[in-house]
Amino acid sequence: MSIDSNYFSLLSKLPPYVFSVVNELKYSARRRGDDIIDFGMGNPDQATPKHIVEKLMESTVQGKNHRYSVSAGLPKLRLAISDWYKKNYDVQIDPDSETIVTIGSKEGLSHLMIAMLSPGEVVMVPDPCYPIHSFSVLIARGDIRPYDSFEENEMLNSILKGLKKNPKPKALIISFPSNPTTQTVNLEFFDKIVEIAKENNIVVIHDFAYADICFDGYKAPSFLQAKGAKDVGVESFSMSKSYNMAGWRVGFMSGNKEIISALRRVKSYLDYGIFQPIQISAITALNETHDCVDQITQTYCSRRNRLIDSFANSGWKIKKPDATMFVWAEIPDKFKSLGSLEFSKKLITDCNVAVSPGIGFGKNGDNFVRFALIENEQRILQASRSIRKLSL
Ligand SMILES: Cc1ncc(COP(=O)(O)O)c(C=O)c1O
Repeated sequence: MSIDSNYFSLLSKLPPYVFSVVNELKYSARRRGDDIIDFGMGNPDQATPKHIVEKLMESTVQGKNHRYSVSAGLPKLRLAISDWYKKNYDVQIDPDSETIVTIGSKEGLSHLMIAMLSPGEVVMVPDPCYPIHSFSVLIARGDIRPYDSFEENEMLNSILKGLKKNPKPKALIISFPSNPTTQTVNLEFFDKIVEIAKENNIVVIHDFAYADICFDGYKAPSFLQAKGAKDVGVESFSMSKSYNMAGWRVGFMSGNKEIISALRRVKSYLDYGIFQPIQISAITALNETHDCVDQITQTYCSRRNRLIDSFANSGWKIKKPDATMFVWAEIPDKFKSLGSLEFSKKLITDCNVAVSPGIGFGKNGDNFVRFALIENEQRILQASRSIRKLSL
């Protein structure tokens, strides 16, 4: 028997991972000894706050925490999630039926698609989008229908247009503050989305990974604050960014009972819950005051300011984002015709600066590159000096 690439039919449906092209260039430059300033992946560079790590250590030495845990998440963690929603958004979440703990948001979103979709069913996804928004649909054997995800009205029009096409979509994925575009919205936008969902009988899945990473007085609304949101959808939150817990793999999904129950059912066959000390530490994180979240947000805010100001001094004017740990930078006119992949390659080879090419997030992203704010301010300044070689 020969096992060739045709054997794995799913894999041929998954698009090539554009980021690996840039990563390869980055690794070979590093092997040559070049100092690459790496703004590529949204992987927080700072440690998890001390009190959360201490809770992990304390609970890890207790043998009772070494057993299989609960797939849906510890009841006390679900209670902490419910309190978190009440405290931060004045939203009521029943800890037993309206929330579930996930192994990071990627896992939750992916298994939700498996729970929801039959082969060929359509989900509307943003273009550009965080890759799991489309990959999760494809992995569940569904089809994606991208909508333009830049400015609010354009987005609503594009969603409405997509909803009219056949086959009729089953769900709509939205995510604000957005990775990669950094676009933010207000609660009225979510009210409109709920209205559209009700009129068109579709489910809404809101990815709220950057809930806390907001600047200059902007506070991102929760989708679940919109009137009637729980009738039509769910929201996923990640501990990865707000608490620098990316490697811990913990998040949660909350909202509509039926959707949460479907995800719970699928997960009950597949996992036994996250390592219990991690769940216990997540309770500590959510129950504590917001000091550590504020400090993490402040670090991204200072880096954002440093990048925008120093790059402007080097001739690259970039729009200042209101939220997220990213800067979504339009490619300067001089290099726009290169497209984002070639321009990203140029940034590595000419300037020792690594970014993510916008095309990796969808065809609408090709005029942009994304900077993840995971280098310190000193290194950001170094990058801004380095890009002067491009004579922008
Ligand atoms: C929009 C968005 N959703 C989800 C994730 C992944 O979150 P998690 O680490 O919880 O899987 C990220 C990570 O970059 C993200 O940007």
